[in-house]
Amino acid sequence: MSEISQTRPLDGKVAVITGAGRGIGRAIAVAYAQAGAAVVCSARKEGELGVTLALIEKAGGRASIFTADVVEHAQMLALFDHAVATYGGIDIVLANAGTAGEGRKLQKSDPAQWRETIEVNLVGAYNTVHAAIPHLRARGAGKIIVTGSGSRHRAMPGLSAYASSKSALWMMAQVLAVELEEFNISVNELIPGPVKTAMTRFGEQSFPPQEWIKEPEDVVPLAMFLATQPDRGPTAQSYSLMRRA
Ligand SMILES: NC(=O)c1ccc[n+]([C@@H]2O[C@H](COP(=O)([O-])OP(=O)(O)OC[C@H]3O[C@@H](n4cnc5c(N)ncnc54)[C@H](OP(=O)(O)O)[C@@H]3O)[C@@H](O)[C@H]2O)c1
Repeated sequence: MSEISQTRPLDGKVAVITGAGRGIGRAIAVAYAQAGAAVVCSARKEGELGVTLALIEKAGGRASIFTADVVEHAQMLALFDHAVATYGGIDIVLANAGTAGEGRKLQKSDPAQWRETIEVNLVGAYNTVHAAIPHLRARGAGKIIVTGSGSRHRAMPGLSAYASSKSALWMMAQVLAVELEEFNISVNELIPGPVKTAMTRFGEQSFPPQEWIKEPEDVVPLAMFLATQPDRGPTAQSYSLMRRA
């Protein structure tokens, strides 16, 4: 059995995180780097990625940033080529980039915005994992984590596109887990539950009163758990930080 450092359990690993410019992705990027991983942080806004990079470097971690739109497949190919060229391979992929969409009830929704939410959250995650798989296979093992949402099983008004995208994402993750089992690549879903980020425009969006309202850093222990499971550890599983279903 290989030795895993208790303080730096991701030593020698390379992680690619989309949506790492702020919020949950940034908190996990900093944590993975502190745990010893080299982290490639991606999003569209270079300025926000620069802040993530500065936080990682301040914490003594190793990272690089790469601006890319998950909707553009060619940009995802370029992201993973960059990661391999910079760090020699990829072990962990967190498909985390996402948008809540416009938040209007379906009848009042804008068709273009409805489609965009599906494209970012579902097609974007597809583009991310599709581009990553050859590199994970080359490594002989790997971990794919997708950031899901409790809204995929809890209907809330105004979230038809978001909930549909996350519901489909969960199904995609399960199918992919079965397809990648023989390659020692696990695919699991992380459901953060309500977290104070730009996406939730905190204060504007209402959550059930009994919910645990989190800071992005509260998601880190679960993200660390998922990144540190054995090669033949859990796959096709959903892990949630919501207080109730
Ligand atoms: N916050 C919550 O309560 C909550 C609950 C459940 C699930 N989640 C999920 O957690 C994930 C992160 O959300 P968050 O709350 O941390 O939101 P956030 O603070 O708004 O961060 C979203 C990140 O995704 C990036 N992104 C958005 N569209 C993108 C695109 N087309 N291409 C590449 N990157 C893109 C954003 O950067 P750019 O704008 O620069 O591209 C940003 O870095 C999402 O998948 C979300 O659905 C959040």
